[in-house]
Amino acid sequence: MLPRSRHPLSRRAFVGRAAGALGTTLGTAVVADFGTPRRRAIAAAADRLRHGAPADAADDEQFWREVRAAFTVAPSIVNLDNGNVSPSPRVVTESLVRHLEMEQDAPVLVRDMLGPGTANLARELAALLGCAPEEVAVTRNATEALHTVLLGYDLRPGDEVLTTTHDYWAMQNALDQRAARDGIVVKRVAVPVPAASMEQLRETIEGGMTPRTRLVLVSQPVNLTGQFFPVKQICEMAHARGADVVVDGAQGFAHVDFKIADLGCDYYAASLHKWLMAPIGTGLLYGRRDKLAKVWPLLPTAPAAPKDVAWKFMDIGTRSMAPFVAIGDAMHFHETLGAARKEARLRFLTRTWADRLAKVPKVRFSTSFASPEMSCGLASFSLDGVDDDALQRFLRDRLGILVQSIRYDRASFRGVRVTPNVYTSPADLDAFCDAVERVAAKGLPPSGRS
Ligand SMILES: Cc1ncc(COP(=O)(O)O)c(C=O)c1O
Repeated sequence: MLPRSRHPLSRRAFVGRAAGALGTTLGTAVVADFGTPRRRAIAAAADRLRHGAPADAADDEQFWREVRAAFTVAPSIVNLDNGNVSPSPRVVTESLVRHLEMEQDAPVLVRDMLGPGTANLARELAALLGCAPEEVAVTRNATEALHTVLLGYDLRPGDEVLTTTHDYWAMQNALDQRAARDGIVVKRVAVPVPAASMEQLRETIEGGMTPRTRLVLVSQPVNLTGQFFPVKQICEMAHARGADVVVDGAQGFAHVDFKIADLGCDYYAASLHKWLMAPIGTGLLYGRRDKLAKVWPLLPTAPAAPKDVAWKFMDIGTRSMAPFVAIGDAMHFHETLGAARKEARLRFLTRTWADRLAKVPKVRFSTSFASPEMSCGLASFSLDGVDDDALQRFLRDRLGILVQSIRYDRASFRGVRVTPNVYTSPADLDAFCDAVERVAAKGLPPSGRS
């Protein structure tokens, strides 16, 4: 029989093992993961690029081949639907599985370990965002984070919340419910497609403001078109009129390189399972320290608990902590790639397919390419005379190419959304463009034939 301290379920042995794993992903000792050969290869490749400008790395295919090898994507699939949910690099999946197994060893002990671990995670996310750890809550997705603000923000009957026709449907539902239940007024301004300039977008939002506007909801980029908004200018305008701003950054976080100070918003929410490539079921909520007390948690904390810390939103009962732990691995992977380098690559990939399809007369873009800051790795188009759903189905069912057909009652357009990611190769984009050009020239094949 093993001595008690060496038994796999002894508290000392278990805690030692858990501490090692949590230290790797949540604490300061991140170097252990660099020991994996793949991480080391990418770190070495990134090191080779460290003296160049991020944009110089955008088309360095040798580097991006190393990055692709860190994923387990099936070679038979061309996944251009990463704006939906992105696959994680292998190092993240391995961490997720490792921690799930650990939870099966002794769930209660794992839970005991996670108090300090979660605080470390908030600290690392805060560093990425450029804010204080007390301003960050880890959530299960962007919907949970945004609903916390939209449903928990102090509002009275007749108070107005301003948003756009392009904001995400789940947030519109939250506002509509609040209108029905609490008598608030929801105002929506129509977004021009494609937008002519950032200034036009700022004016569009300003046009919907009234003396009763208390809160503005705006997407950093819109999920339908990839249209970025001039968030900083919108915040300045809203603040001057006494309104707070909540930013839907589900599609912005770890996609473009920014800090919270660049936005100047009061609340910010993101999915981490999109561009950060963390496990499915992870998100975050940022609240400016002096604005946190205005938001009631959806799941209440003790009456005496502090009101000005984002952690008050994390008392949601029992859940698996394994996905949360693996967020740390996703952050380290992101930092190894380099946020600016990744943004430059995503921009390059979009330009590659969009420039090629721009030569096809039937192609119409709903994304604005008028200036670089208006879009990045997410863009939409439609093909005259071709149904978007049918095009999506054809690409997926006949060619294994994944894109997203976009339909949304409130928005003024339909189209197909294309979102490559850091593991996307030029050959993937060629396969996609070849297929669209063929459909533009010959139409979709009758169903049942290829
Ligand atoms: C702009 C935008 N907001 C919110 C969401 C919801 O994100 P989640 O699924 O993480 O709740 C999405 C998801 O696609 C989105 O694109």
